[in-house]
Amino acid sequence: MELSVKENFPLKKYNTFGVEVFAKQYIEIHSEEALAALFTAQGALIQQPSLILGGGSNILFTRDFEGLVIHITIPGIRHTISGNAVTVTAGAGVIWNELVWYCVAHQFAGIENLALIPGTVGAAPVQNIGAYGVELKDVFERCRVFDTQRGEFSTFDKEACRFSYRESYFKREAKGRYIITEVTLQLSLTPVVNTSYGAIGAELAKRGIADATIKDIADVVSAIRTEKLPNPSTIGNAGSFFKNPIVPVQYLTRLQSTFPDTHFVFYPAGPDQVKIAAGWLIEQCGWKGKRVGDAGTWKNQALVLVNHKNASGSAIYDLSERIIQDVKARFGIVLEREVNIL
Ligand code: EPU
Repeated sequence: MELSVKENFPLKKYNTFGVEVFAKQYIEIHSEEALAALFTAQGALIQQPSLILGGGSNILFTRDFEGLVIHITIPGIRHTISGNAVTVTAGAGVIWNELVWYCVAHQFAGIENLALIPGTVGAAPVQNIGAYGVELKDVFERCRVFDTQRGEFSTFDKEACRFSYRESYFKREAKGRYIITEVTLQLSLTPVVNTSYGAIGAELAKRGIADATIKDIADVVSAIRTEKLPNPSTIGNAGSFFKNPIVPVQYLTRLQSTFPDTHFVFYPAGPDQVKIAAGWLIEQCGWKGKRVGDAGTWKNQALVLVNHKNASGSAIYDLSERIIQDVKARFGIVLEREVNIL
């Protein structure tokens, strides 16, 4: 099989921050066969540091990549229906939002709240993507992976993926070992629309919609995201840059007594824990809409760091460090980055 490896390849178009960096080598992989061929025939190539790239929407390059970038572009969506249950399988290279709209068009319910999340299907399990009250793990059935240590394909079920909030086995313990080639979801022909997230209910009411269809939900979620979040094709960003920190309830109570006039924004997060809105913490520290050169935080959502034009990855990283220090100094909470730093 012909494998076309490109040298000194520009990655600006392949990371949604739009940071100008180069990969020593770059290859596009359209099929499982090509992936297996890369691993066996070109075994030496894969020995060097390699990076699996999907949509490049959760990564910040702070320097050139001195190895092989493997860009997964495996296409295809197929489904089977059994009673009310629908099984949908998509190639890792499919754009996530295209899968959402394929499902909405076919009346397959379950991922409409995840409309307009940037990135590819293959990246979705890595950080258990989530938005507006739904996480991938709620509909995930299994994924096919290529094990770069053993050189073979296998299947991971939901339990094996060890999903939690913006985390999985692929992002933690097994980082860099497996390449996801396709993902299978369990969806339904009988929608249970999830409007639990405040902004969805408010937007539906504004549009006078009482009995929302899954298309209504996908439309409303897309509208909310478009209004709140910068479009990566015009302003570089990678969505939420930090995770929302989870702290013990007692810690929040202590903060509330230290800052009696402050109305903290938080949600319950399991027994005795709360998730505090990181965007709110950042805004409290005066960082919302600020910029340092071309690096900044978004005017409508301080949790999103942006590249206004020509910021380097390290300038964006330095800004994130300043934000972490300020939030720590004021609230004693250390924000954790959600985006992968390279
Ligand atoms: N808030 C502020 N100031 C800000 C930003 C937010 O006060 O600058 C407050 C808002 O007023 C709101 C609360 O914080 O009451 C939560 O904000 P939002 O609804 O925007 O959600 P989030 O917690 O900041 C999370 C996800 C997003 C996802 C939204 C909607 C994380 C790290 N982020 O953001 O996911 O779209 O909920 O479900 O969990 C992503 O992961 O890249 C991402 C965009």
